[in-house]
Amino acid sequence: MKLDLLPISKAHQKALFDCGCAELNDYLRHYALKNDRLSIGKTFVAVDAEECVVGYVTLASAQIEARRLPEVLHSKLPRYPVPAFRIAQLAVDTRFQKAGVGAWLLRQSLEKALSVSTEIGLYAVIVDAIDEKAKGFYLKYGFVAFAEYPLTLFLPLATIARAFSGD
Ligand SMILES: CC(C)(COP(=O)(O)OP(=O)(O)OC[C@H]1O[C@@H](n2cnc3c(N)ncnc32)[C@H](O)[C@@H]1OP(=O)(O)O)[C@@H](O)C(=O)NCCC(=O)NCCS
Repeated sequence: MKLDLLPISKAHQKALFDCGCAELNDYLRHYALKNDRLSIGKTFVAVDAEECVVGYVTLASAQIEARRLPEVLHSKLPRYPVPAFRIAQLAVDTRFQKAGVGAWLLRQSLEKALSVSTEIGLYAVIVDAIDEKAKGFYLKYGFVAFAEYPLTLFLPLATIARAFSGD
């Protein structure tokens, strides 16, 4: 399936989007455009050749308290919070799940993180999994859960850069 990733706009048909999770559907329908305009979270929609919204991702910035990271990482970091890139929402319409769209959206997001990291400091990408099932998706790609926040996971930028350089 050929997909394009586009900044969300009024023109995109959002009302019929259904990823199976009411919270993530509601976000796309009612808050994504508003928050995009406020620059709180930037949403990108994946559209197919018919301009159907197949999936979406919302990206924002974040901070990580270094002491929340595993000892092997935080021992090398300053005591103050370190900057991060947050995948706040990522969802695929049920009609298009299990066809590689989620993996594609994740890859597009990580590429954006790498691109941003050439201009501003970013230590890691963090994701908020909506539930334990969604967490499994991120674990598959090497994300690691914070001990104190089991549904929030991180992946250091250095790990992402290494993975992409080996493509
Ligand atoms: C989780 C979600 C984004 C996955 O999207 P998808 O398009 O179905 O996933 P893909 O087809 O790209 O799957 C890529 C790989 O991840 C695996 N995968 C997908 N969902 C998974 C899960 N929940 N746990 C573990 N692995 C998962 C697939 O088996 C596939 O593995 P393979 O390459 O070895 O075959 C989608 O199911 C979804 O939108 N769910 C509802 C909302 C949600 O949970 N969002 C997650 C973050 S809040």
